[in-house]
Amino acid sequence: MNSAQQLSNPEANHSELVALLPRADIHVFCETQETGQVVQRASADRRMSRAHVTIQLGGIPAAVQVYQTQPTPNVLVVETHLGREELFRELGRLAEVCQPSTKVVIIGHVNDVVLYRELIRQGISEYMVAPVTPHIFMEALAALFNDPKAAPLGRVISFVGAKGGVGSSTIAHNVGWALSQRQNIDTIITDLDLAFGTAALNFNQDGGGGIVDALGQPDRVDSTLIDRMMTKVGDKLSLLNGPGGVDRDYSIESHAVETILNVVRQSSPAIVVDVPNMWAPWIKYTLINSDEIFITATPELPALRNAKNLIDMLKAARPNDKPPKLVLNQVGVPKRPEISPADFAKAVGLTPVAVIPYDPQSFGLAQSNGQMVFEVAQKSKAAEILAELARSLGAAPAPVAASKAAKGSLLSKLPFMGKKSS
Ligand SMILES: Nc1ncnc2c1ncn2[C@@H]1O[C@H](COP(=O)(O)OP(=O)(O)O)[C@@H](O)[C@H]1O
Ligand SMILES: [Mg+2]
Repeated sequence: MNSAQQLSNPEANHSELVALLPRADIHVFCETQETGQVVQRASADRRMSRAHVTIQLGGIPAAVQVYQTQPTPNVLVVETHLGREELFRELGRLAEVCQPSTKVVIIGHVNDVVLYRELIRQGISEYMVAPVTPHIFMEALAALFNDPKAAPLGRVISFVGAKGGVGSSTIAHNVGWALSQRQNIDTIITDLDLAFGTAALNFNQDGGGGIVDALGQPDRVDSTLIDRMMTKVGDKLSLLNGPGGVDRDYSIESHAVETILNVVRQSSPAIVVDVPNMWAPWIKYTLINSDEIFITATPELPALRNAKNLIDMLKAARPNDKPPKLVLNQVGVPKRPEISPADFAKAVGLTPVAVIPYDPQSFGLAQSNGQMVFEVAQKSKAAEILAELARSLGAAPAPVAASKAAKGSLLSKLPFMGKKSS
């Protein structure tokens, strides 16, 4: 979405992908309760958890007042109802108290591309037309900190099982494979099950393991290092995995996972994360901060209880995101009493996006060959459903980098309301 589109249609369909905002001070001066509430909702979002946001009423005049005696923050957002002439007069006053390094963002009520261009030329970092949504707000702020030359961010797609052995890893690997092979999307599969992970086995690899070192010293991690740690397992598919052994102790910090995923996201459009079935702060962190989450469950009571707990927690922690996706797997085990998909859906409050039959022949053969279900049982129902899952992911809108580049070149050059005003 570019700014011109956003101007003409503030409710325009935006990409779900917003980079994490850095530890910045962001001061917002609203004029309406509505805008205040939107900013409030955005500032409680996971992607803004590191930023320090303060919200006050009073628009530009209040900001001018406050910064007579205080330094301006990294980002100053002001809401205004003013039209062109009065707006420039007010901004002139604001410029007198505003540090050159402060990025000024305006939420305006006048929808006018000419005004927008003029403001940008004067050094305003962004002009959004009210009403804004939390997503539009976050997207605009995140764009201020993005390197305009950087590639668009990759999507982090996490797979977690509602209990061990439900097939979460198998599904993650097959969907990753299909994303790369069938949807032609460069994909990295990250296996965070360091001790017992099966990604390497399932792709018939015996190398890798480097992610342990990366998790141990996240501050050293950059894209070159990550590239070296990856094993290529297909034309467009790479693996970033643990050593698969128990001779070391692993303790993982949330911020290490954050650093690594942020680096990996910059090098590939799709990152499939195989999240182990255990509970720790870093697991919770990883799930909450994923762009998509697939919870795999078998149609049994323990899986149902755990799936419900995970779904409830994730919905509550991610009020501005789509809910996680539920996959029912190993459905139809002979002689096993099972909960029907409809009852399962009702109990957890989420309809499964896929119901995969129990198919020990196809899955067993794939596992023993170190191949994907697609390769050993192309015609199976399971292969068909897994391909459909990958297709649904592949069809999601990709983030747009070009508009950010165009915007970035403008705003990085000019100081806000500099002497060169026309
Ligand atoms: N639909 C299925 N039918 C039969 N076996 C399956 C199915 N899905 C997964 N499996 C098998 O179940 C076992 C556990 O799978 P895995 O992906 O390691 O589970 P998790 O990662 O949830 O612990 C593997 O042997 C896998 O081949
Ligand atoms: Mg697993």
